Amino acid sequence: MPLLDVKKMTHYFGGLRAVHDYHLSIEPGQIRGLIGPNGAGKTTIFNLLTGIHKPTEGEILLDGNSLVGLFPHQIAALGLGRTFQNLCLWRHMTVLEHVMLARYARLDYGLVGAFFGTAKRQRQEAESEIVARKLLRMLGIEDLAEQNVLNLSYGNQRRVEMARALATEPKILFLDEPTAGMTPEELIQMMAIIRQVHAELGLAIFLIEHRLKMVMELCEQIQTLVFGEVIAEGTPEEIQNNPQVIEAYLGKETLH
Ligand SMILES: Nc1ncnc2c1ncn2[C@@H]1O[C@H](COP(=O)(O)OP(=O)(O)O)[C@@H](O)[C@H]1O
Ligand SMILES: [Mg+2]
Repeated sequence: MPLLDVKKMTHYFGGLRAVHDYHLSIEPGQIRGLIGPNGAGKTTIFNLLTGIHKPTEGEILLDGNSLVGLFPHQIAALGLGRTFQNLCLWRHMTVLEHVMLARYARLDYGLVGAFFGTAKRQRQEAESEIVARKLLRMLGIEDLAEQNVLNLSYGNQRRVEMARALATEPKILFLDEPTAGMTPEELIQMMAIIRQVHAELGLAIFLIEHRLKMVMELCEQIQTLVFGEVIAEGTPEEIQNNPQVIEAYLGKETLH
């Protein structure tokens, strides 16, 4: 059984058909990519799979559980973590607080424990902090743990967002243009981080990217979306040499 199985998913925004008859099947531990010109419907697919929008039609199964109609926090609890195309951080909090707060979804000491500060709560919080710091170390921002996110570079803010998504211990991680706005140096670092996270945590990754080089180097299988439809699917090599893909990107950007 695939980890994530999407069948015949279609979505309309009013009269606009943003996604049409979308299929996806991801096995545990796979890295998959989704590319396509601006406005193709990539973020909409993430939003449909993570419960932000409800598909007009279609089936979404994670580990055999249907996700259609569930709230985003329920989907996160079932093992789907994500980052956003536009950074989505809480500006008044430190790096460590961001990651620890995300872990609260997993804690179970309840409201009474939270209020009275029981031993269980203290133990769980201490464990949470250890896990959070481990993630920050993995992402190379451990020394920024006590900093307010406002003081961080854009590239480091993106790392915080990824650490936060990982804090819920997802089985699959969705990354929406994780290198958007980054400098070339930050981009290279981010690629190395994604590789390391994948190697160390062994989770599946589904990556949306506008910059093709990144998807080509990281992903085993890539889908190309144009006007809400998958026009090509295959290995990086197959995608790179596909005339329809070249046509879709022609004049907009290069494939390399
Ligand atoms: N919440 C929304 N309401 C109405 N239309 C939307 C909404 N979100 C996206 N769209 C439209 O759906 C299409 C796909 O957008 P999007 O998924 O953001 O594309 P991509 O991420 O590939 O650039 C676009 O035409 C966009 O304007
Ligand atoms: Mg997008």
